[in-house]
Amino acid sequence: MRSYQKSTALYERTKKSLAGGVSSNVRYASTPVPLFFVRGEGACLYDVDGNVHIDYVLGNGPAILGHAPKPVIDAVARSLADGQVYAAQHPRETELAERLCRLLPGAEVVRFATSGTEAVLMAMRLARAFTERPKILKFEGHYHGWTDQTYISTRPSLNEAGPADEPVAVASSPGMPPSALADVVVAGWNDLAAVRNAFARHPGEIAGVIMEPVMVNGGAALPHDGYLAGVRDLCRQNGALLICDEVITGFRVGLGGAQARFGVIADLAIYAKAVAAGFPLALVAGRRDVMDTLLDKGVMHGGTYNGNVQSMAAALAALDELERDDGALYRRMESRGRALMEGLAALGAKHRLPLLVQGLPAIFQTFFTRAAPPRNYRDAAACDRDMALAFHAALQEEGVRVNQRTTWFLSAAHDDAVIAETLAAADRAMAKLR
Ligand SMILES: Cc1ncc(COP(=O)(O)O)c(C=O)c1O
Repeated sequence: MRSYQKSTALYERTKKSLAGGVSSNVRYASTPVPLFFVRGEGACLYDVDGNVHIDYVLGNGPAILGHAPKPVIDAVARSLADGQVYAAQHPRETELAERLCRLLPGAEVVRFATSGTEAVLMAMRLARAFTERPKILKFEGHYHGWTDQTYISTRPSLNEAGPADEPVAVASSPGMPPSALADVVVAGWNDLAAVRNAFARHPGEIAGVIMEPVMVNGGAALPHDGYLAGVRDLCRQNGALLICDEVITGFRVGLGGAQARFGVIADLAIYAKAVAAGFPLALVAGRRDVMDTLLDKGVMHGGTYNGNVQSMAAALAALDELERDDGALYRRMESRGRALMEGLAALGAKHRLPLLVQGLPAIFQTFFTRAAPPRNYRDAAACDRDMALAFHAALQEEGVRVNQRTTWFLSAAHDDAVIAETLAAADRAMAKLR
């Protein structure tokens, strides 16, 4: 048995000075307590008890090049000599903006922020200002940050969530004002009729439709054939903007994110996480006429740390790696991730477990279910959560770290040897589950 004695003691101590003992509630979801790490390198994290973890959490997605990637760390170290934050323009910002406009589908211009949460807020404000409409349509199970305006119906209990074809907007946290729900319309995902119906129920009121183009947070479900294009068309027909939240999929499922992968271009898109390989950077990219409202209509967006020197340096260095040899890194990740997905599915069959592997090679989720692959939040919620938790714990015991939902993020540092080691560990973990 692995020992987590030092993490447990540190957690008890930390709780006395840091509210709840963590800096983000997401970190409570850890076994047996929120673990304390001292170092990350490549595919591995090292905790205070001396346990080594092959890490598939990767900071919840950003560490696309693994932990402490040398080219990025070196670039950031060099940038420190230039200072840290000017809260003013600098040439690295221009260089990065130009590069992103070249790389990202539909990015006529970009604007930098620091966290995905804030960039989402900016995109929603832009949509409302541009269309002069009040409401945003979001989907059940999709996560767009923790604010009053977005932390709605992210994981609603089915007792509260209303009928599947017309879900009720449910506040996901105490402390959110009821008024926050008034301007949000919630629909089930992967269902065009639901979007059509939402537009029909709120004629002329919906400013934008925001979605994770692959529903990663709700179950790594892919969009059905024609779904994204269908939503795209419905937005056009109804005068609303399509907002793709590519905070996870951006720079992960390919250089052009999910939009390039699925051939659909949003009016606005939000990126964060992998873009700076783990340094804090987010951005909104999109149509010039919409983004110009920042200047023309005086739409407010601010942020002291936006465009800070180190995040710009990190992103420029990360893009050097991601773009090298025409995206060779993505081709490697794709084949290794596929081997991992197929290997896990084969192990599930070997151990006679109802294991289902769903998603894309660089980001997927494992489920325990005998039902069809989840296509939306309600399907995913019906899968066996206790088995997922047990799998997470058994994997951790064997040195493999996935989150409690058993989402798997891949990095370029997860090479063939790491994948083989992971599958051997998963074999032992599944033997215990049975
Ligand atoms: C799809 C999506 N959007 C937005 C966010 C919020 O980003 P951040 O945590 O950087 O505020 C997240 C965070 O996990 C996310 O997964």
